[in-house]
Amino acid sequence: MDSSSHGSWADNLPPMPDMPSTPAVCPSLMSADALRLGDQVDALIDAGARVFHVDVMDGRFVPNLMLGTETTRAVAGLARPRGGLVDVHLMVERPGDAIQWFAPHADMISVHVEADPHPHQLLGEIRAAGCLAGLAINPGTPVEAVVPLLERVDYVNCMGVNPGFSGQSFIPETLPRLTALRDLLPDRVALQVDGGIGPANVTDARACGADLLVSASAIFGAADPVAAYADLVGRVESA
Ligand code: DX5
Ligand code: ZN
Repeated sequence: MDSSSHGSWADNLPPMPDMPSTPAVCPSLMSADALRLGDQVDALIDAGARVFHVDVMDGRFVPNLMLGTETTRAVAGLARPRGGLVDVHLMVERPGDAIQWFAPHADMISVHVEADPHPHQLLGEIRAAGCLAGLAINPGTPVEAVVPLLERVDYVNCMGVNPGFSGQSFIPETLPRLTALRDLLPDRVALQVDGGIGPANVTDARACGADLLVSASAIFGAADPVAAYADLVGRVESA
């Protein structure tokens, strides 16, 4: 048998986007003004934002319903020509089908380790669809859950809240979890933190190793979202 025809699963992957330069503050569009979404994304790109976080919720894995393929497609159409990336966070039970629905409009997709008994397969499907593969973990999940999957992971999303809603308080135990994850992850795997991030803790989260800092209400709940974004960037850069 010709062994050259039996490469590893990684040999046949389509080209993937480059990981965005880090650290990066990633606006989460869950809290954007739905009637002014395009203007808000445009203004944030003008201010330097490159990674737009899209929360997808199925009403089962989390107690809420959120953004779908059409919003994601519209954001991709606006952001990608200007150098932006779309980061889709699937808070969905058994997300296998959803990966295929969102992949054409996504550059990065994360699935929850708690959402499916076969996360290896899902991570492989994300990469096979041409996206960077993220693994998200809830606050109650031991950080070691990521270890068996690291070969197939491009970024880990460490939740700072129990997912489902924006505007929740940051769970303080997240900071030592970030430190522990940064120690577990190879350098090539980026560490994302998502939920409860704002001016009061973004510097600490960065100091604990977070590379991609997601924020919804601290940006879009502010009177001036661009100024709030710039403030977070300044704090991250000073960490
Ligand atoms: C939480 C979502 C987060 C959310 C963050 O369920 O996954 O991305 O938008 O919202 P804030 O930053 O307001 O906690
Ligand atoms: Zn999210």
